[in-house]
Amino acid sequence: MRNRIEVLHGVNLDTLGRRDPEHYGTITLPELELTIKRFASEIGLEVRFFQSNHEGEFVEYLHRLPDLADGAVLNAGAWTHYSYAIRDALEIAAVPVVEVHLSDVSSREPWRRISVFQGLVLEAVAGKGPDGYRTALELLKAELDGE
Ligand code: DQA
Repeated sequence: MRNRIEVLHGVNLDTLGRRDPEHYGTITLPELELTIKRFASEIGLEVRFFQSNHEGEFVEYLHRLPDLADGAVLNAGAWTHYSYAIRDALEIAAVPVVEVHLSDVSSREPWRRISVFQGLVLEAVAGKGPDGYRTALELLKAELDGE
């Protein structure tokens, strides 16, 4: 059964709860992870979590991803907009990935409209807050079930 999902949070996502509430709400990362765990168990997925502020460490974790998970949810924070190293590592990992952003990146600064993961991810979900992670898990579930 392919149901192991890794939920990957990148740079600065550990400071949720202290960031601009207009974009990110007031939820902390541990609270968000608990919410995601609940979403996942409702649809029969197992989740694990990883967060890092260190690009090299994040890349090395992605190298191990195929051994750890059948799919991944990725909110890479600001790395989304410029890290070709993480894009390449994601390509090497070759597992289905859905990109998530809590905020509506399309209606913020122009540089946030660019995602280096475009073309690699199944879909990008943005601007739905924590509910975006539910959408991402449902998309991965459908992909893993071969729908
Ligand atoms: C973010 C959006 C990014 O532009 C930003 O750098 C983040 C968080 C989001 O979840 O909305 O750190 O990925």
